[in-house]
Amino acid sequence: MKIFTTRESLGNYLGQLRSKAQTIGFVPTMGALHPGHLSLIAQAQLHNSVVVCSIFVNPTQFNDPKDLEKYPRPIASDIEKLETAGCDVLFNPEVKEMYAGNEHWHLVLGELEHLLEGEFRPGHYQGVTQVVYKLFDIVKPDNAYFGQKDYQQVLVIQKMVQLLNLPVSLVMCPILRETDGLAMSSRNIHLSADERQHALILSRSLNYFSDSFNKDNLFELLETCKKMISSEPGVQLEYFEAANADNLHPADQNTENIVVLVAAKVGNTRLIDNTILGNH
Ligand code: PAF
Repeated sequence: MKIFTTRESLGNYLGQLRSKAQTIGFVPTMGALHPGHLSLIAQAQLHNSVVVCSIFVNPTQFNDPKDLEKYPRPIASDIEKLETAGCDVLFNPEVKEMYAGNEHWHLVLGELEHLLEGEFRPGHYQGVTQVVYKLFDIVKPDNAYFGQKDYQQVLVIQKMVQLLNLPVSLVMCPILRETDGLAMSSRNIHLSADERQHALILSRSLNYFSDSFNKDNLFELLETCKKMISSEPGVQLEYFEAANADNLHPADQNTENIVVLVAAKVGNTRLIDNTILGNH
């Protein structure tokens, strides 16, 4: 695997490949790679000549400096995992390579920016779109792969691609879960053994919702699931919502495609999860 740390060297290398009509699949990550990330690499390998992964813990998308500081950065083992997965290229820049100084970025993302995650992480999606735009500009991928676990992030990036008319196709890949149902996440390593058990209430409540859902019990079921989560020790619910899968407006009995999304703090670790009804 080739490793680049500067935009220029990566841009030159990929430019040569592109001139030979090679297609580029791109998997942007913040590292601390788990099988969920590797499944994105595997998807990208199926449909592109070259797969580029980026590892960059992007400071502008963290609204809590402590969260940024404690975000895991196991770069040596990440490189090993990417080598084993057969990834072709890693881009692993320093912060100063990505941000030149006082930069201004604001995209008019509309309500998507303020709903759900946006309410609890103000400014988060401005930071996400800022860095993903930069990464797309350097890599110029044909296809870019994102995990469904960050469902709202996928919609936000889709919106950016439409707004700026970017020539890239986005592919959303399914959530990978541990055998007990916990959605794989780089943040899971922060959970103590006890917290890890309590965290299972997130996937359990989502399963309960999809198993019990019918057109007439939506609001009642939401309340039941919220109570299930709130009564779990050490778990602080932020939201549990059923939403229109296209725009994240609250769902009602007439909504056709529904995604159910949850966020909660388990101890000090913030976790998110979701399920698309009918897909589970
Ligand atoms: O999903 C992530 O890991 C990050 O938000 C992303 C897309 C790599 C941007 O920093």
